[in-house]
Amino acid sequence: MKIPVALMLLAASTATWAVTPGQLAEAYASEAATQSPGFRPSARRGAELYARRFAVSDKMPACSACHTDSPVQEGRHAVTGKAIKPLAPRAGAARFSDPAKVEKWFRRNCTEVLGRECSAAEKADFIAFVSEAK
Ligand code: HEC
Repeated sequence: MKIPVALMLLAASTATWAVTPGQLAEAYASEAATQSPGFRPSARRGAELYARRFAVSDKMPACSACHTDSPVQEGRHAVTGKAIKPLAPRAGAARFSDPAKVEKWFRRNCTEVLGRECSAAEKADFIAFVSEAK
């Protein structure tokens, strides 16, 4: 079953509605498919996005600047130095299970690193990558 992101967000705003990373990636993927028919999430593209250095922020050039080279590792905030739990769901923290939280951090971090919001396609790829990361 495909659940649109907007619907997940609505549910998440009225109650705590937990989803799986797979469901969330699928919701972003079906949103992306409305723009580019046949879109499939790609862990390889997600890995590229994770490691790519953008020329927007000196302190936060890439996702890996705070989340380290591997999403299974504990991260460290590039500005505040605070510890950040690993992004990979298999590393234990409750990741990609709260649609509102995920949207909030995608918006904040993509804006800081890329200088714009991430697309639904980029979010689907990113979740595919961190979910497969070992
Ligand atoms: C300046 C440091 C920093 C950078 C750079 C950064 N993040 Fe994060 N990220 C955080 C912090 C802090 C949190 C929230 C704390 C937590 O959830 O452990 C977070 C959480 C997230 C979450 C929430 C996941 C969940 O379900 O809990 C996502 C998604 C995310 N980041 C994606 C990204 C992406 C994509 C990039 C690159 C475009 C990126 N981050 C770059 C600091 C950063």
